[in-house]
Amino acid sequence: MRILGIESSCDETAVALYDGNLDSGKGSLLAERIASQIATHARFGGVVPEVASREHLQALPSLVDAVLDDAKSSWQDVDALAVTAGPGLMGALLVGTSYVRAAGLVNHIPVIPIHHMEGHLLAAGLNHELPDFPFITLLVSGGHTLLVRVDAVGEYQVIGETLDDAAGECFDKSARVLGLPYPGGPEISRWAVGGNAKRFKLPRPMLQHDHLNFSFSGLKTAVMYAIRDAGDVTDDIRRDMSACIESAVGDVLVKKSLRACKQEGVPRLLMAGGVAANHYLRTLLEEKSQQQGVSVTLPNPDYCTDNAAMIAFSAFKRLQYGLYHDDTWDAKPRWALTDLC
Ligand code: KG4
Ligand code: ZN
Repeated sequence: MRILGIESSCDETAVALYDGNLDSGKGSLLAERIASQIATHARFGGVVPEVASREHLQALPSLVDAVLDDAKSSWQDVDALAVTAGPGLMGALLVGTSYVRAAGLVNHIPVIPIHHMEGHLLAAGLNHELPDFPFITLLVSGGHTLLVRVDAVGEYQVIGETLDDAAGECFDKSARVLGLPYPGGPEISRWAVGGNAKRFKLPRPMLQHDHLNFSFSGLKTAVMYAIRDAGDVTDDIRRDMSACIESAVGDVLVKKSLRACKQEGVPRLLMAGGVAANHYLRTLLEEKSQQQGVSVTLPNPDYCTDNAAMIAFSAFKRLQYGLYHDDTWDAKPRWALTDLC
């Protein structure tokens, strides 16, 4: 069965065609394309919603044509459409969902609405076996930091979350303080190489508490004060501060994730979302998990950040487990992962 997936919830317009066999549960990606808007938004220091919608509108139709072309396919070969229905920017979501609804009507193809964070959560399945159920997932993106107990596809229990900023947001805001462009995560990751992670003392928020919640807004403030006290932001400071930020965020995320595995008695951990592309974090998580006998699954870095392959793949998993119902639905800018249960 061929599923055409579309993602337009934020600043990437992405289209992918996935071919899966519902009996065996196996499949592969036939083609994908991503049009990034990062260069457009970078000069504003963050995503401008109205600009994002217009860019999606411009990019989407030709991306779909290109993906079908790449896979030597046509609309007749598409058995289902999958689209990110939320959470995300309302205008951006409406571009993808309206396009898909129209294409579904014209070509008589069913449309499967997908939760963006479920897409991230299942993305590792594109290249790897997903862990046996139950498993714990650390979902870290620009807008979310969640610890989720996964008992099955569609059965999600949030056991920890951020009380303020998300981890990605912390990277993005700290990068701005350092005079680095948007998005800050990959910038900080690049600058951190060879930096002295002990030069600045940054807090490890909420680590001393037993619960599994996070708080990252204080970390961003600490970065701001440390930079103010240091005077001019030199490259030397950028390098060392980037290493300190990575180390502080990494410490908190890894320790809380392993605490979640221990508290739930589940020695299987998956990390997903844009921040999961971070090389330092991936290495730290693997090292510490191994010490505690916890197995780790990581999506390929390209499938950590926003993409449409994860949306098509999630639709495939939903179909495989009989979780697709032909109900009415709307784009939802706010949508809790637990509403899927
Ligand atoms: O999942 P994602 O692509 O979009 C959302 O759903 O939000 O995540 C974007 C976030 C941004 O905050 C970005 O700075 C961060 O992921 N990010 C990274 C890296 N690549 C992207 N953070 C740290 N290291 C990276 N290599
Ligand atoms: Zn995302």
